[in-house]
Amino acid sequence: MTLPRIIAIDGPAASGKSTLGCKLAEYLGYLFFDTGIMYRAVTWAAIQQGLNLDDETAITALAERIQIDVLPPSLGDGRDYDVLVDGEDVTWPIRKVEIDANVSQVSAYRGVRLAMTQQQRRIGSRGKVVMVGRDIGTVVLPEADLKIFLTASASERARRRYEELLARGEPESYEQILEGLRRRDQIDSNREVAPLRKAEDAITIDSDGLTIDQVFEKARALTE
Ligand code: DC
Repeated sequence: MTLPRIIAIDGPAASGKSTLGCKLAEYLGYLFFDTGIMYRAVTWAAIQQGLNLDDETAITALAERIQIDVLPPSLGDGRDYDVLVDGEDVTWPIRKVEIDANVSQVSAYRGVRLAMTQQQRRIGSRGKVVMVGRDIGTVVLPEADLKIFLTASASERARRRYEELLARGEPESYEQILEGLRRRDQIDSNREVAPLRKAEDAITIDSDGLTIDQVFEKARALTE
């Protein structure tokens, strides 16, 4: 049996990619890397520095300048890892609704993608990695041995996100979440550079009506 050296998981917002990727990496003893955090980190830093999010040149320069680190968790507050931007812990701030609302715009910029993609390739091509995002199987690591496209209906994804925010003490209305997800799907799938798209050789898992364990079992079976 040859285990896949590089596993790519792509799919729309809140389809459960991180949960699956994290479990799969743990099972295989691989590195888990969620590329969404990089675009979230750039968006967070841009807002923090008061940049105009329409200013592609300024945002690109920022993406090229900031240092994003992912380290083992320093706190037992539900986090799977620490995310640092220039040494500052932004693990939870990058998950805020304000970031959700703006990250698709920032991640559509060509220069931002170029800067992030280079770093992702460097990490991913070493192997023994489960990398999660929108364009991993198509652009970042097209050589991945196993590509999974994880989907779920918009209503199911909104329901999951609603419960996640509630559990974190940041409740938001279901309708607003659904609308936000649809807007992000629309931008992520229609941008010019590296849009969200299923790679031709990817295997689709539809997680509607499945538990986390059932989704994991389907994915695990694909590694055999
Ligand atoms: O997976 P996520 O929701 O944390 O991703 C946040 C945003 O980042 C998402 O709206 C699109 C963008 N993204 C991307 O364009 N390419 C990736 N490989 C990962 C995320």
